[in-house]
Amino acid sequence: MHPVRLRLLQLWNTFKPQSYRPVIPIDVNHEALLHDIADATGCPLQRIRDLWGAYQNLVESRDHIEMLGQIGTTSSEEAFVLHCLLDIFEPPNLVEIGAYHGGSTRRILDSIEQLQLKTRVTTYDIVDIVRYFRPDEAELRLQDVTESVERDILVCFEPGIIYLDAHPWQLLRNVLRGVLKRDDWILAIHDCSPILCNPKMTIPKDEPRLISMRTGHWERHVLAEAFGLQDPLDARLDKLETDNHILRIFATQHGLALIMPKALAGG
Ligand SMILES: C[S@@+](CC[C@H](N)C(=O)[O-])C[C@H]1O[C@@H](n2cnc3c(N)ncnc32)[C@H](O)[C@@H]1O
Repeated sequence: MHPVRLRLLQLWNTFKPQSYRPVIPIDVNHEALLHDIADATGCPLQRIRDLWGAYQNLVESRDHIEMLGQIGTTSSEEAFVLHCLLDIFEPPNLVEIGAYHGGSTRRILDSIEQLQLKTRVTTYDIVDIVRYFRPDEAELRLQDVTESVERDILVCFEPGIIYLDAHPWQLLRNVLRGVLKRDDWILAIHDCSPILCNPKMTIPKDEPRLISMRTGHWERHVLAEAFGLQDPLDARLDKLETDNHILRIFATQHGLALIMPKALAGG
């Protein structure tokens, strides 16, 4: 897009009187979240409860909430879903797409340490503004994998977990498509709550720089298309399954989606 048109659109999206103004909920129903994680993963509820207890100590001792925040980044509850997946599946690799300052990477690294796993963390971004982890803790790769997700991630790494927290429509579509063709990768996607979904997106799908809370996010649009629903706000998107995969969207602050091969469910 021409830079002048881009700037005008940015100004318009910032100042126009919008009917779309998401308010992110701060509180999460923890009991419901623990049940939903147990249900989605097939892991006994008591094990999830025990993990939750120990996880509270981790969040407190590492000062996660104070240091990293809860809104506009991966919250403790969302990081707990990743914590459970790490504990249950003990993956050799966790690949993050969208590091930003590395707040989510910090939480993931602390989980791996507490759980005493050997999981290797690789995180992709297109800019280097990392603050919260060191290069010897996780590898930051400055690369846009939109067109190469299969070649550079799905085939290249020993399968594990992908945590996708970057908003471009094409990137979301390509990662989701790639993962759904396989039965060995688990995918978690941030920002899938109905609250962050503007059903009337006014920005072009091929313009990644404009996406913000004030425009709405593409995540549910991409999920709806991939799972055969017309309306991104359709509540069936929060819990559905295909022949090979399950999809759950956990009711966290920003909505965390889990796409898991059925072959792996069952704990
Ligand atoms: C919402 S932030 C990530 C937040 C971080 N995961 C956290 O919880 O604190 C999104 C990040 O995705 C990055 N990003 C945007 N397009 C990308 C792409 N094609 N590939 C990798 N990262 C991308 C942005 O530069 C930005 O740092």
